Amino acid sequence: MLVNAKEMLTKAKAGKYAVGQFNINNLEWTKAVLETAQELNSPVILGVSAGAGKYMCGFKTVAAMVDAMVESLGITVPVALHLDHGTYEDCYKCIEAGFSSIMFDGSHYPIEENIAKTQELIDVCAQKGLSLEAEVGSIGGEEDGVVGMGECADPDECKMIADLGVTMLAAGIGNIHGKYPENWAGLSFETLDAIQQKTGEMPLVLHGGTGIPEDMIKKAISLGVAKINVNTECQISFAAAVRKYVEEGKDLQGKGFDPRKLLAPGTQAIKDTVKEKMELFGSVGKA
Ligand code: 13P
Repeated sequence: MLVNAKEMLTKAKAGKYAVGQFNINNLEWTKAVLETAQELNSPVILGVSAGAGKYMCGFKTVAAMVDAMVESLGITVPVALHLDHGTYEDCYKCIEAGFSSIMFDGSHYPIEENIAKTQELIDVCAQKGLSLEAEVGSIGGEEDGVVGMGECADPDECKMIADLGVTMLAAGIGNIHGKYPENWAGLSFETLDAIQQKTGEMPLVLHGGTGIPEDMIKKAISLGVAKINVNTECQISFAAAVRKYVEEGKDLQGKGFDPRKLLAPGTQAIKDTVKEKMELFGSVGKA
């Protein structure tokens, strides 16, 4: 059964570790993340972007697949199915489809409008038992064609949104989606520290988990980050493993063209990446 993300993140913040949000793209991805979480006895959040949802034939298909897979794989660790960077409209679609958690990304609205829409969605989620993530200060990089500049959020605006009663808060601290450029200045711990001081117990969310050095991840967790999103890194390891299989000509040997064989190394590579991240984030054994 799916759960919302509140309890797992409250525990993570108190216990000074972070729960990983791993974005899913298809059946293999979902299976790889769920199996790894179960093997490591870790809570997990499955992230679904609008683009990935569309690719998988809509949010309803995703929710039905995840629900059924949790049951048929005998997954007992807490699993939240979460909309990543949702528009106002997509939030309602996911609530209807059976997601257990949503992110409303109102960071591009003026703060007043972000607050009004976030408040409305908090009320709907509270009625239905879902958790809600809000965002202040856009996260840089490109995701589904939306390019952000990687701002640092204003700690006072973070407090305003946190006080509305969101479950978790994503705040820009110089992080970006995708690979970090050579000249990246690193995370702004000064901003993170100021945000945590204003928002207290609120679990903070670090987007753009791909390529952030380990010491920065650990420091971010020590300053209140309780959820870390990873997407690109699983895609890179999946692609590298499938490339190797094909370049070694394995698809031309015997029945190596069978998709179940062709995608197996990629699926294993996702599992390895997820394991590495769960160990780094400290969520192993915390289910
Ligand atoms: P990366 O693709 O950089 O890992 O970011 C993932 C993310 O933040 C999803 O919201």
